[in-house]
Amino acid sequence: MELQSFRRLAHSRFGIVLPDNAESFLQSRLRGLMERAGYRDLERLLQAAETDEGGDLFIDIVEQLSTNHSYFYREPAHFEFLSSVALPEIDERLRRQRSRDIRIWSAAAAAGEEAYSIAMAMRTFFGAHYKDLDAGVLATDIAKRSLHRGAEGVYRTESFRHIPQHWRDSYVEPAGEDSYRVVKLVRDDVMFRWLNLIGPLSALRGGFHVIFCRNVMIYFDGPTRERLVQSLARLLAPGGYLFIGHTDDAEFARKYLDQQRPAIFRKRAEK
Ligand SMILES: C[S@@+](CC[C@H](N)C(=O)[O-])C[C@H]1O[C@@H](n2cnc3c(N)ncnc32)[C@H](O)[C@@H]1O
Repeated sequence: MELQSFRRLAHSRFGIVLPDNAESFLQSRLRGLMERAGYRDLERLLQAAETDEGGDLFIDIVEQLSTNHSYFYREPAHFEFLSSVALPEIDERLRRQRSRDIRIWSAAAAAGEEAYSIAMAMRTFFGAHYKDLDAGVLATDIAKRSLHRGAEGVYRTESFRHIPQHWRDSYVEPAGEDSYRVVKLVRDDVMFRWLNLIGPLSALRGGFHVIFCRNVMIYFDGPTRERLVQSLARLLAPGGYLFIGHTDDAEFARKYLDQQRPAIFRKRAEK
């Protein structure tokens, strides 16, 4: 496959826009993968990706192109808002509707640091009442290796650097040298699934009280971002919240939702 066809495919299948200097970018990003998988040069790797029926090699390549970097309690203002505004509102609504179902989605979850942080915030907020709820977090991404790591729940110590002390005491345990594991109770709160945000999102039931879609839209062009934000707005429950990254372009979120704080948007509640 030629570089240009690869560019087109990366864009049409996963929304990823490659930089102008694609060749040197790919060379440097894919060096490790080429060595691991035994391809001598970029051309051969891209050729193999083209003929790879299941598409796993193509996904492996795309995984290397977007950064999967994340950490717990990233952008603390979001978790403070979640605990002080969104969760109390959801709690109130559940009581009114006599429901126990809380629906939260971490879209582009990388290895689950964000999804687990949300689960920890929920457990802290609801306390003993949490066990009466049907509350979990759906964590999705295209990066299979990251999803796998997320399900394992083991991270380097520095990933937890920003979490509140109470979370450290309650929700993680040492797991070998310089790493910690999220405790089983919290691991069971998060469901990891492969999902392409560019593909049809019709498999999702919607009605989400909260969607985190942070630090992924930077890879997409304007029309792709707009389509995605429209879908996310549709998938939110009335009164539900969308969190995007602080450095993400907020233009479309502002167009389809009401802005509450920097990078926090709300779908209007039904009267
Ligand atoms: C920088 S991480 C963001 C992790 C987390 N949301 C955060 O803010 O810390 C970006 C993630 O977006 C994922 N990604 C890129 N394109 C995607 C797509 N088309 N569908 C779903 N996830 C995608 C990457 O695999 C990567 O894990």
